[in-house]
Amino acid sequence: MAAERLALLQRSWSLVADQYHRTFSPLFFPWIQDTLSVLTANSPPPGVIAVPCCGPGQELALVAAAFPQHRVVGLDLAEGMVRLAQQLVEGQGLGDRVEVRVGDASQLDSLAPLAAVLSVFGLQQMPQPAEVLANWTGCLAPGGVLAVCYWPAAVEESGPWQRLFQLTAGKPQADWKGEIPSAALRQGAQLVLDCRPAHEMAWPSVEAFWEGMTRGGPWHSRRLLYGDQHMEELRRQFMQAYPDLAAPLRHSPHGRLICLRRHAASL
Ligand SMILES: C[S@@+](CC[C@H](N)C(=O)[O-])C[C@H]1O[C@@H](n2cnc3c(N)ncnc32)[C@H](O)[C@@H]1O
Repeated sequence: MAAERLALLQRSWSLVADQYHRTFSPLFFPWIQDTLSVLTANSPPPGVIAVPCCGPGQELALVAAAFPQHRVVGLDLAEGMVRLAQQLVEGQGLGDRVEVRVGDASQLDSLAPLAAVLSVFGLQQMPQPAEVLANWTGCLAPGGVLAVCYWPAAVEESGPWQRLFQLTAGKPQADWKGEIPSAALRQGAQLVLDCRPAHEMAWPSVEAFWEGMTRGGPWHSRRLLYGDQHMEELRRQFMQAYPDLAAPLRHSPHGRLICLRRHAASL
């Protein structure tokens, strides 16, 4: 089951990579900035900074610029995303210090000990997010810093994203709430920050939101899994709340941003 989900995500994110980069990279930029600011403010030790789930690589260039003495390794499951990230890295002349790899980033043991982990909007994709966060924390060097932003189960009280969640939600994952970040803290780390940054996302129309989410974003994997007919029915239900498809849409979802520091000496 986990292998099937991984294969589905790999295929979906590869297929949508170009459209995702055009549509979502600018929309998600403010959360990337938030996460990077937190990492910068907490001065990780020298070494390697891992960027799991780097997607098309927007954050790789920013991390490399903020930490000119560090090596940066981006990882993503989807070849299509890694292709874009590599283009970005090479285009900015960062190839000697920034590496991008295709692969499952749920365990970072092969990169340990890490100076830092920075990840934006990847953790919620993992089947066992609390365990993954614990693994990433356990791979930090003493004094290493983790800054991770992800979409929690509820991103807004009302709004189009919440409506999509409600129409498609399965059972919440058992470890989703209680074990984040406690499982990670048990790796020998202290919590530096746990907050919920919100930013406005503006869509030219309701239709653009639907198309972006289901053809170029997180709901595309559902389209692959269940097919266009299922998505048409979902679209019909979704649009009941939005009779004017051409109307511009604004909403302010919140992510969850967690920053941890590994204890300097093992306890
Ligand atoms: C919503 S995108 C975020 C991309 C980028 N960080 C951003 O903020 O724009 C989620 C990314 O996580 C990647 N991903 C999902 N599961 C993964 C896994 N197990 N290992 C590595 N990458 C994964 C997907 O391929 C996709 O590129």
